[in-house]
Amino acid sequence: KIDVWLDCDPGHDDVFAIIFAAYHPTLNLLGISTVHGNASLSHTTYNAGSVLTAIGQPSIPIYPGASSGLVRPAAHAVDIHGQTGLDGTTLLPVPFTGPKSEPAIDAIASALLQTPPGTAWLVATGALTNIAQVFAKYPALAGHIKGLSIMGGSVGSSFTPAVLGTVTEKDRIGNWSRWAEFNILIDPEAADQIFSNPVLAAKTVLIPLDVTHLVLATKDVQEQLRNGKEGTGNTTTLRTMLVELLVFFAKTYADVFGITDGPPLHDPLAVAVILDGVSGHEIPFYDFKGEVNGTRTKERFEVRVVTEGTHEDAQNGSQTGRTIVRLLPKGEEGVKIPRGLNIPRFWSVLEDCVKRADEV
Ligand code: BDR
Ligand code: CA
Repeated sequence: KIDVWLDCDPGHDDVFAIIFAAYHPTLNLLGISTVHGNASLSHTTYNAGSVLTAIGQPSIPIYPGASSGLVRPAAHAVDIHGQTGLDGTTLLPVPFTGPKSEPAIDAIASALLQTPPGTAWLVATGALTNIAQVFAKYPALAGHIKGLSIMGGSVGSSFTPAVLGTVTEKDRIGNWSRWAEFNILIDPEAADQIFSNPVLAAKTVLIPLDVTHLVLATKDVQEQLRNGKEGTGNTTTLRTMLVELLVFFAKTYADVFGITDGPPLHDPLAVAVILDGVSGHEIPFYDFKGEVNGTRTKERFEVRVVTEGTHEDAQNGSQTGRTIVRLLPKGEEGVKIPRGLNIPRFWSVLEDCVKRADEV
């Protein structure tokens, strides 16, 4: 099994990242750390505990991390995720166990440093504050882990040819502002530290909006989630809860962004990418130039983050929080950014994880 640590800010889509990491048969979820983001740290921590209880995994430890950015105040995505971070259902249980008291960054480092060198993954689906802090305090961790997977940022026209998503340079490439994606924008200094660490950058996979907007939780996806692949019509409390969360998420995405086909299910993609190349379990992620089944190229990117300006500047059109992405010459080390993935396979594997969670 592949050891994984998940740093998250649940959040509707983070819920599915938790399910994926906790229930994929080749992943071993060591622990969860929480961070400010979609809601306050106390909400995201409570939500993580509630989700683990709902899926029958209350013994996976949860460590609360940073409640604001490295140098910035916290900012929450109330319009998208509601006040609690997980609005839209009354079926979330009270967490069976409380969070741990050890500081998150110490817990992350100690868990990952106990894994065999070059094997474990760290996945980040929220602000990158905890992640920047853990590598600042434990620099050897960068050399130790196999990879760091981040849901964040957006690429836009640096992807040539463009990815066929709903993210276009013409109008906007970001979501929280014209230029910036939420997870990067709320702590751009943290993101900048990570991408400018060459050891870490060479191990980082970035899943930007360009890719996540290919994976919309449509009505069909919601129906499959309600009934399972067999479509028996006998839904369960867990499935009802997950569908209610997606219905809320779909409504806010339609209201705020005008995306009416379904909300992008960003965060589980950052977990799924770990499986790329894992024999028998691949969810093919493509960094192709051309067709999905064409030759795979090994694209590597330099990622820089715009740190000038405030959150409010970003709302007014400045590039604060933007990820500026440059394709590196062949052979140079850098961040991997897939240009797409096998979408039906992703939904199928996610459904298998939900099914396993449901059987507990
Ligand atoms: C990211 O921001 C959060 O609102 C989501 O959970 C996801 O991690 C998308 O920009
Ligand atoms: Ca998130």
